[in-house]
Amino acid sequence: MTNNYMYFIANWKMHGNIADINKTSSVTKLSRLKKFKKHKIIYCPPYTLLKNFYNKVKNSNLSIGAQNCHSNSDYGAFTGSVNAKLIKSTGAKYIILGHSENRNNGETDLTINKKIKAALKENLKIIFCVGEQLSEKRKNNTHKVLKKQLTLGLKNIKKFNNIIIAYEPVWSIGTGVLPKNLELSKNVNSIKKILTKSKKSKNIKILYGGSVNPKNAKELSKIKEISGFLIGGSSLNSKKFIDIIKKSTN
Ligand code: 13P
Repeated sequence: MTNNYMYFIANWKMHGNIADINKTSSVTKLSRLKKFKKHKIIYCPPYTLLKNFYNKVKNSNLSIGAQNCHSNSDYGAFTGSVNAKLIKSTGAKYIILGHSENRNNGETDLTINKKIKAALKENLKIIFCVGEQLSEKRKNNTHKVLKKQLTLGLKNIKKFNNIIIAYEPVWSIGTGVLPKNLELSKNVNSIKKILTKSKKSKNIKILYGGSVNPKNAKELSKIKEISGFLIGGSSLNSKKFIDIIKKSTN
């Protein structure tokens, strides 16, 4: 990694309870060590744990993020939904948007664009997920897919200092199958080019997500275009999460 700091973002998806928050103390401790202080370690638990998790880590170097939000920026009659304002009120600073598991549930680029705008309004930092399906990769359509997701998702957005991109090839999520380093750097460079061409940003940070674990973290961290990881399954276990952090920062 060429960057002086890296992101390690735990996406807990639909997992976790209060007892699990208490099991993350070793990560809090690690984040306070001089060697790891400069890195950004972020937990994104389900909505139900945001406030408790925030209270647990507020005096540490860890941050909290949500995994989604409603596209409406104001309060309103949206039963079962949570918007960026409500998320902000828990102490969370980050938010994952555009995750493929939500795209697969019908979330469109247009909705994602609205959600990004609503979250930016609340000064939340966005982790914007993009990535191709296996069928799209097989048809050599990866670049086209990334271009569409980035262009529509970031439409009419001018400020990029609160946006990070997470490149998550859908076929790699939860499967244990990873892109080869060369393919990964090619796709990350594609993202950079798309953003530079559309005058979005040259310096935007790009993370990788998809089956990151303690065994592959070291190898993945050699890819200089990547500024960190969005981690699902392995982030549920503090020992594994710490191993990933240590191996990628050595
Ligand atoms: P896994 O690390 O479980 O493959 O999940 C990746 C992911 O979807 C993170 O957002």
